[in-house]
Amino acid sequence: DATDIEKGTYPHFMLKEIDEQPLVMRKIIQAYQNADGDLEIDSDIKQAMSAADRIYIVACGTSYHAGLVGKQLIEKLAAIPVEVHLASEFGYNMPLLSEKPLFIFISQSGETADSRAVLVKVKEMGHRALTITNVPGSTLSRESDYTMLLHAGPEIAVASTKAYTAQIAVLAILASVTGAAKGITADLDLVKELGIAANAMETLCDAKEEFEQIAAEYLPAAINCFFIGRSIDHFVGLEGALKLKEISYIQAEGFAGGELKHGTIALIEEQTPVIALATQAGVNGSIRANVKEVAARGASTCIISMQGLETEGDRFVLPAVHELLTPLVSVIPLQLIAYYAALHRGCDVDKPRNLAKSVTVE
Ligand code: G6P
Repeated sequence: DATDIEKGTYPHFMLKEIDEQPLVMRKIIQAYQNADGDLEIDSDIKQAMSAADRIYIVACGTSYHAGLVGKQLIEKLAAIPVEVHLASEFGYNMPLLSEKPLFIFISQSGETADSRAVLVKVKEMGHRALTITNVPGSTLSRESDYTMLLHAGPEIAVASTKAYTAQIAVLAILASVTGAAKGITADLDLVKELGIAANAMETLCDAKEEFEQIAAEYLPAAINCFFIGRSIDHFVGLEGALKLKEISYIQAEGFAGGELKHGTIALIEEQTPVIALATQAGVNGSIRANVKEVAARGASTCIISMQGLETEGDRFVLPAVHELLTPLVSVIPLQLIAYYAALHRGCDVDKPRNLAKSVTVE
């Protein structure tokens, strides 16, 4: 029961939940390991995944952002085409479905009404659904054919943190086990790589002052803040922007680096904070070119890069992790920057205005 959960020595649930992320990674690895130490999932889920010609991920908010990363994981590791949809839009913009669709609902609470409405609809149409949730026995779990649990422990802060990284880890396991079942050989030892990511997350949780400093330097008087990235970094930028707006009320947006020139660069003024993620080798040069473009127009730029890709002047260099798992680590600075920005502004971090932890109305 949520009321039994204590903050302990933490001033806020959000900070406690950020710190729990390395432990949650280790719990997830354990929960999905078989007796031989190999990652394993329910054989019915494996079958449903292998039989699907297309996967439709449906979610809201932070879970939707995890779904965007999940699409990359499933397409790269399991070679199944994936579409990601906002639950609230699905009803009106119902995509033309493939012959053998599988629906994946991602929901921390398992109670989100927008997602449930889609589940009810696709079940009526006779389709199969897998729910990835933190809450066993939740509505979405009960009404789906299959469930995978997040093992993140209760998440109390309205702004989701550990559920996001747990969702990505579970999606990685789903993708990798499915890929292996389909005979796809991936150059990825997921148990090992998730362990490396967990250690890297711990290093970041121990470096809180760095991110408090970034928040103090870039955001005290900010009226807006932009997050830029390319490829998977773009999706993490969307989540970083959501965290910042949810709890600090600073208007924040995540942009794909390449789209800046198509309109959004018009928003850059003297001192506009721009936080850039650079964790992907394939786009390292092009995202850095974008940073130069906004800096030339007066932006205060803050580059968060990854070991092996760093350049002098980067504000923070993340420990290296597998390039498909970078969201697990790159999101942590963004969670902490949002936390400290909200704290410095005197905002109610755990209970931001107008928001609810679980939205059970459509
Ligand atoms: C609410 C919460 C968000 C969350 C979203 C989806 O809006 O404030 O933090 O991401 O619902 O919730 P779910 O439980 O379905 O993941």
